Amino acid sequence: MAQAQLPLSTPLLLPEHPKAWRWYHYFTFNLDHKVIGIQYLVTAFIFYLIGGLMAVAMRTELATADSDFLNPNLYNAFMTNHGTIMIFFWVVPAAIGGFGNYLVPLMVGARDMAFPRLNALAFWLNPLAGALLLASFFFGGAQAGWTAYPPLSTITATTAQSM
Ligand code: HEM
Repeated sequence: MAQAQLPLSTPLLLPEHPKAWRWYHYFTFNLDHKVIGIQYLVTAFIFYLIGGLMAVAMRTELATADSDFLNPNLYNAFMTNHGTIMIFFWVVPAAIGGFGNYLVPLMVGARDMAFPRLNALAFWLNPLAGALLLASFFFGGAQAGWTAYPPLSTITATTAQSM
């Protein structure tokens, strides 16, 4: 199938890479799909470790029959936030945000994603949302499981509004 070819003189709309690449460039609002992919992967891995700490706390609580390592409300909050983090801040961002951003433009031969600024904005909303989720612990933390289904989400000690 014929492909539309852009003339070589077509100006690139994306800014060029800095001459010398530095580690702190990964902390900037970068428009490059590979940089955004790596930003997603590293951020998702950090959330994976945070969710993993909650799993360790839960397994510590469950290790013995009469443990009071976590009180019941905190156990439920750790379970809910562990599930939420593992799904929405590890599996999905790593698979779709990380590998999707890094690999798909290379696989289809595109120079970048279609809307690089929107793409970068989408990434930066991710750590912000994760920080908000973790901040919910200051308000008791959601406790109804990651699905937050009613009626459980309306009758637990802190209701679904805290998520
Ligand atoms: C070795 C690593 C892990 C350990 C020890 C662990 C442990 C646990 C424990 C103890 C629970 C709570 C069970 C309960 O009280 O009903 C749980 C729930 C859950 N875990 Fe993990 N987990 C691990 C890794 C993961 C990973 C990698 C994912 C997803 C990618 C994941 C997703 C979930 C989900 C979705 C729930 C249900 C949460 C809910 O019902 O709200 N876990 N896990």
